[in-house]
Amino acid sequence: MDSYERVHESLISLGMDTIEHTIDNYLENARDKSIMEILDHLLSEEVKSKLSKRYDTKLKYAGFPFRKTMEEFDFPFQRSIDKSVIDDLMTLRFMHNKENMVFLGPPGVGKTHLSVALK
Ligand SMILES: Nc1ncnc2c1ncn2[C@@H]1O[C@H](COP(=O)(O)OP(=O)(O)OP(=O)(O)O)[C@@H](O)[C@H]1O
Ligand SMILES: [Mg+2]
Repeated sequence: MDSYERVHESLISLGMDTIEHTIDNYLENARDKSIMEILDHLLSEEVKSKLSKRYDTKLKYAGFPFRKTMEEFDFPFQRSIDKSVIDDLMTLRFMHNKENMVFLGPPGVGKTHLSVALK
């Protein structure tokens, strides 16, 4: 087995799918780059893709009824909510402090929307 094949086999064994898929093409166009720059780029892309997959899996298992973002929440429409309180919750400081957070209010006012958007 030559080094080309061994590199690809090792990447597959290590589950580094992103590098495995992109390394050939990237190396073709990276002749002016240093080894460190090449490693930096390839590993960064692998980490990015792994983190994104982990994030998607966590979201799936969270079992949210829908996905909504804070940007989609109409604060001027919902006058009873103080945006600065939500901004503070968005820092997730309450999790760090092991505090609970509960939204109270009548049906359909956005409690679940705000809950799933907290991230
Ligand atoms: N201020 C708002 N801006 C944008 N969308 C809103 C707003 N308030 C409610 N919605 C939308 O209305 C729908 C109902 O909101 P949500 O499910 O969050 O209400 P809820 O308070 O959790 O209701 P329930 O008490 O029935 O569980 C969702 O699609 C949500 O995105
Ligand atoms: Mg709800």
